[in-house]
Amino acid sequence: MSDSTFPVIKLYGVYGYPVGHSLSPLFQNEAFKIANLNAVYFPFSVEPERLREAVEAVRALQMGGINVTIPHKQAVIPYLDRIKGDALLTGSVNTIVNRNGALIGYSTDGDGFLLSLQKEAGFEPADKEVIILGAGGASRAISFALARSKVRSLYLVNRNPERAALLRRDLLERLGFEVKVYDYSDPELKRLAAAADLVINTTPVGIFPEVDAVPPFPLEYCAAGRLVCDIIYRPLETKWLKRASELGLRTLGGLGMLIYQGILSFSLWTGITPSEEPLRAVLNKALAVSTDQDSD
Ligand code: ATR
Repeated sequence: MSDSTFPVIKLYGVYGYPVGHSLSPLFQNEAFKIANLNAVYFPFSVEPERLREAVEAVRALQMGGINVTIPHKQAVIPYLDRIKGDALLTGSVNTIVNRNGALIGYSTDGDGFLLSLQKEAGFEPADKEVIILGAGGASRAISFALARSKVRSLYLVNRNPERAALLRRDLLERLGFEVKVYDYSDPELKRLAAAADLVINTTPVGIFPEVDAVPPFPLEYCAAGRLVCDIIYRPLETKWLKRASELGLRTLGGLGMLIYQGILSFSLWTGITPSEEPLRAVLNKALAVSTDQDSD
């Protein structure tokens, strides 16, 4: 029987370890369905020592592309043919595109965050004062995206000063952008909070199931109407964001960043920009169910 008897189904997926909680399969399969594309997207649990083989499989199986998540976002780079854009700038890849056998790495995390800020909160970063809590992978993607967007000032608050200093150095070397680094106990934070247009939590503090935890930041010093953002989406509204609302601040949760980075990955693979509302609905439903069940 010849190959052409069957329609060709393109294979996509996410490589992570663990990968069980990823919402990407749900999201991307829905996007393929809506776009009427003959494609399927699987979660693949890839042990770190088998990452090279897993990337080779993308070529061997002629997969369309792959998302890459924790802990592989940096480790995957040596196995790719090229990396572009933010992936090159930040040293982190979340999307691989297979272009006729050449594997190209991108990062859609930073642009996903910017789209959420602009579309959902109507916030234009240029010339703004921004405080970021955390200096890990998510903070790196967001701080590079904000520095590119020409914020006026960026302040990093982190427990581990070496990690923050590394991010500070990379922003300076790669974008010529100067940031200041603070400890959570620095009294200066109150003054920074009072002048901030945007405060972003990129740490896991407050994520399900530790939903009562809040980052130790003096939100009460922020001016009314300023924006507070949490990239956590489990729960959809963290305790920190609830507190911000009660203080008269505007808030933005993490679901939008998740949606837009996924939309950008899908566009890189297919050239199609899927409409976001049905995808948002699918994620909202899954998150409502998963938080209910896990708390039983
Ligand atoms: P991600 O890829 O999600 O950003 P990560 O790279 O592990 O995850 O980074 C997590 C960030 O949250 C780090 O900056 C970490 O701070 P340290 O660099 O000081 O370790 C921060 N973080 C994690 N737990 C925290 C906590 N309980 N309080 C404050 N910061 C925390």
